[in-house]
Amino acid sequence: MTRRHLLSARDLDAATARALLTLAVERRDHPHEAAARPLLGRSLATVFFENSTRTRVSFTLAAARAGMHTVDLSAAASSVHKGETLVDTAKTVDAMGVDAIAVRTGQAGGAALVAQHVSASVLNAGDGKHEHPTQALADALALGEAAGREGFDLDGLRVAIVGDVVSSRVARSSARLLTTLGAAVVLVGPPAMAPKSLGEAVGVRVAHDLDAELESADAVMMLRIQLERGAGAWLASARAYRAGHGLTAARAARMKDGAFVMHPGPSNRGLEIDPEVADGPRSLIQAQVSAGVAVRTAALEWCLGA
Ligand code: NCD
Repeated sequence: MTRRHLLSARDLDAATARALLTLAVERRDHPHEAAARPLLGRSLATVFFENSTRTRVSFTLAAARAGMHTVDLSAAASSVHKGETLVDTAKTVDAMGVDAIAVRTGQAGGAALVAQHVSASVLNAGDGKHEHPTQALADALALGEAAGREGFDLDGLRVAIVGDVVSSRVARSSARLLTTLGAAVVLVGPPAMAPKSLGEAVGVRVAHDLDAELESADAVMMLRIQLERGAGAWLASARAYRAGHGLTAARAARMKDGAFVMHPGPSNRGLEIDPEVADGPRSLIQAQVSAGVAVRTAALEWCLGA
């Protein structure tokens, strides 16, 4: 049995990512078959030092579908307030014998740090402004299925990732994974939110004019303005932001026929995305949420060598 960590979208080459996505679909579509409980009796700890609803819940559901038990150590419920650090907490649950730990932290590199100190498999559930690989898998699954891409070959698909890119671990992980799968990704936002240097680091193009990118995009993935990570300081005016970089109903109407709207959630409705666009016919937002459970089941199996 090979035990692995999933810390970054860079841990996944194209063949591995496609196999994981295919397994995710298989597990989702045949949830009650015996083979769908390959991790029966194993355990997952969710160690979340930052708020989360969908990611923590979907890890829990994903683990349950694979037959695992889950324990949750969210910051407020654990001993963080007694001075225990992320690594202390992870080592404690590791010593209790959990098989996998899903880590969410405000610290970039925090999941990799935990991985150095535990014998369990570590899955990065979001570390600061660094990476969020299982969200990238969810986004790739939702997009690949909606676009009818057999085997998750996204060759030639043009994806614009738009908004507060600099604050976003989802943008970094999704840009990397979608590129690995063959898509052409562009990061779009005002210069302070989509700096050229970030494009160089991730290996994709950067653009500042959303309208110029809109008509050629097969998918537009909007990002939340992360006020808690300092985006508020740049966001002098919400109205000006929406006018320049929001996916308004008028902008969505100018997208290509058949092009998709995405958002990893949670969204600031009326700021980066209009409610009728988020809930409209192009939207894959609910599909991204359901894909989150399926890909996390597959990721747990991959990490635990099942
Ligand atoms: C994101 C996150 O926490 O990185 N949400 C998620 O996991 N789907 C994005 C965000 O917080 O805006």
